[in-house]
Amino acid sequence: MHNRSAFAELNGATVLVTGGAGLIGSRITSRLKQLGARPIALCTMSAYPERVYSGLFGVDTTDPDTVTGDIRDTALVRRLAAESDYVIHAAALADVAACTREPSAAIDVNIAGTQTVLDAVAASNRVRRMVFVSSASVYGDGEPPETRNPELADFRELLESVHGRLPRRFDESAPLRPVSVYGTTKVWGEQQTSVVLGQVGISYAIVRYFSVYGEPQTIKPNSHSWVVAWFAARAALGLPLHLNGGGQQVRDLTHVDDIAEGTLRALTSPRAHNETINIGSGTATSIRDVAELVRGHFPNAEFLATPLPAGDPLGGYASIRRMEAVLSWTPAVTVAEGVERYVQWLRRTPQAAPSWLTETALL
Ligand SMILES: NC(=O)c1ccc[n+]([C@@H]2O[C@H](COP(=O)([O-])OP(=O)(O)OC[C@H]3O[C@@H](n4cnc5c(N)ncnc54)[C@H](O)[C@@H]3O)[C@@H](O)[C@H]2O)c1
Repeated sequence: MHNRSAFAELNGATVLVTGGAGLIGSRITSRLKQLGARPIALCTMSAYPERVYSGLFGVDTTDPDTVTGDIRDTALVRRLAAESDYVIHAAALADVAACTREPSAAIDVNIAGTQTVLDAVAASNRVRRMVFVSSASVYGDGEPPETRNPELADFRELLESVHGRLPRRFDESAPLRPVSVYGTTKVWGEQQTSVVLGQVGISYAIVRYFSVYGEPQTIKPNSHSWVVAWFAARAALGLPLHLNGGGQQVRDLTHVDDIAEGTLRALTSPRAHNETINIGSGTATSIRDVAELVRGHFPNAEFLATPLPAGDPLGGYASIRRMEAVLSWTPAVTVAEGVERYVQWLRRTPQAAPSWLTETALL
């Protein structure tokens, strides 16, 4: 159930959502409309083919508040921030593998672009709060064993010798140890948000999303992100499911509906002022578990062990204590429900399993 009163101040407010036509941005903007706000979506719309934005994400490109533009366009961002009561900065080169292939593109968008947004927000006389969208990738693989509490480390080693590797739980005060260019750009964005907006006294909140999934997420070539979409699309086409590194790595899978809800709570909750908050389910799911859930809907699906790609963390799950305390909220969609919803959507929307999948050599 959505709690309307938590969002009373959004009614009639103008909210600039960068990346507002993307998977998460489009979910946030449609929720904002339900709440009586006026979202302005600023987006290059370059992360997917046009048919994904208009056909699958339902973006109305004729709406004057859908602005096709770049966060690095200083004049444009300043003009839009000047007319906004809130800003959600979600635009990014969000594909981990693409950032690894092209670090300078990641730096250009995720660092230089974020600076443009921060400058515009700092210069506006109107913005009440900005949410900077960060990621669990800032934690990387967590603390190396030698830096952990020695007594606990001994105990953990004993447990791991019996059970195998235990998933890491990340709380917001953990040291940041990104293992990818994508993750380093998010660390920079977080710290620069607090420096720039802290100096001018504009409220901000930093949200660290864990692995976001859910319809209408669609896969991209040469990417290893978005495991539910990958497995469901491959299973629907009769292709084996790739268990990178054997599928032992874990993720905290968080449905895009919950991500949108948590983000809007971070935008409005008084206690989120200048806070950094994990947005996750608090549950670890291994990649193999995801494959099994998908196979529950496609019983003929086969598994294929493949190497772990560069920059793919072993992962972990969110400590959600701060999220629950600050946002007075927990996610609603379980992984089993979310996978089922995705599979049902894919059956209704078979064009979401792209034809290049069957044409690629990686069968
Ligand atoms: N999907 C996840 O699992 C996940 C997890 C953690 C954090 N995030 C973060 O959430 C945010 C949204 O991610 P998403 O999954 O919706 O990705 P997405 O690619 O669907 O959406 C991002 C949008 O930003 C746009 N964009 C890229 N460069 C831009 C620029 N220079 N100016 C304006 N727009 C630009 C893209 O065209 C795209 O439509 C990103 O900041 C991402 O890093 C996502």
